[in-house]
Amino acid sequence: MHMKLAVLVSGSGSNLQSIIDHVEAGHINAEIAVVFSNKEDAYGLTRASSHGIPTAVIRHTEYSDREQFDAAMVQVLKDHGADTIALAGFMRMLTPVFLNAFPMRVINIHPALLPSFPGTHGQRDAADFGVRLAGCTVHFVDEKMDHGPVIIQAATPVAPGVDGDTLAGQILRLEHRIYPQALAWLADGRISLDGRHVHIAGAEEPVCDTDGVGPFLVNPPLEKAFAS
Ligand code: GRF
Repeated sequence: MHMKLAVLVSGSGSNLQSIIDHVEAGHINAEIAVVFSNKEDAYGLTRASSHGIPTAVIRHTEYSDREQFDAAMVQVLKDHGADTIALAGFMRMLTPVFLNAFPMRVINIHPALLPSFPGTHGQRDAADFGVRLAGCTVHFVDEKMDHGPVIIQAATPVAPGVDGDTLAGQILRLEHRIYPQALAWLADGRISLDGRHVHIAGAEEPVCDTDGVGPFLVNPPLEKAFAS
């Protein structure tokens, strides 16, 4: 069955753009049924319209509580036939009213290597903390913020003294690769869950060398004497 995807955005929508591009290229067995935003000036809506994708807006400020806003969103997304929800820079927490309407069909991208640096400033928090490796995570959404089972992560080295904005740009380029990949697996029915553990049927396993050392990213790079 063809996956009918709703993408939820609050801002620029560069992840949305990457998803659109991969859907149009035939890499994801899905159609984007609707792009939804809680903000009518979200640039993601313009991106959607320019690709002929239906859009919908409901302002969260018009609802007195999260549950009522979520119920209104569920209605509009179901009206568009959506069966799977991709949060792409959507800046609202979801309640069980929403999550129970699409059980295990809501996924999110977060710009940090969860469970490190959840929240709205993951990249800046990572830069300020002084980590050597940063990255991003695609995960299922549950009731806790940036918490559900992890589907895929990508890591990248953090250059000395880099600021949060520069790091955010570096991470964003990885986001644009891993989010469409996760959606392609979901669309093909290749993802299953065992508690928190996500299994991806047919995904390549990391290959270890003869000493049993797997592929790794180290930053700063090891000097020669320590590298083997
Ligand atoms: C991304 O960094 C995403 O990880 C976070 O919000 C940002 C959205 O960027 N959740 P964009 O709107 O996709 O450009």
